[in-house]
Amino acid sequence: MSATKSFPESVLISESCLQNRIRELGAQIFTDYENKELVLLGVLRGSVLFFADLARAIFKAQDENRTREVLLRFEFVQLMSYQDSTRPSTVKLIRGGSDYLTERHILIVEDIVDTGRTLTLLCEHLQTLNPKTVKVCALLDKPSQRQVPVVVDYIGFEIPDTFVVGYGLDYAQQYRNLPYIAVLEPI
Ligand code: PRP
Repeated sequence: MSATKSFPESVLISESCLQNRIRELGAQIFTDYENKELVLLGVLRGSVLFFADLARAIFKAQDENRTREVLLRFEFVQLMSYQDSTRPSTVKLIRGGSDYLTERHILIVEDIVDTGRTLTLLCEHLQTLNPKTVKVCALLDKPSQRQVPVVVDYIGFEIPDTFVVGYGLDYAQQYRNLPYIAVLEPI
């Protein structure tokens, strides 16, 4: 099987800019959940790089003596909407998370909120598991594409209506390992 051809890309959000903002998000989340147990709920696959850096940023927000802390647990769900194209299709829940989510504080970690349909389906699913609280942290928000209203509690960056890749986001499963967010250039 041959690999899909790569397109040239231009940087929209640099690696240092991403990391600085994630540090700020980590500090804010640490303050908001101090001395609580928090389940970070990663949405596979796009959130993996953001999830890992955010989890470390929350840890690093502690003081040296660790007199204040946030106990983190990792859980994952998988949903899929873009099927190897740049246009969203029907959202499907592929893997729904464990019973551990019941009666817990949950922070959904998303790479991007676009139409809002993935988040809506996920929140509906989570309500069936009876969590204590559910909030959302998304690295990227593209409000111009919203089809259903959703509340995003922590937003890394608001971006314009352009197809972005990198730092977890793909085009036909490529580009996920770029350490920055990029726009694909037409060729
Ligand atoms: C992408 C992204 C979000 C969702 C956002 O996932 O990771 O989960 O789309 O789009 P929406 O707001 O329009 O629903 P995708 O379905 O491409 O799967 P992936 O995470 O495996 O790339």
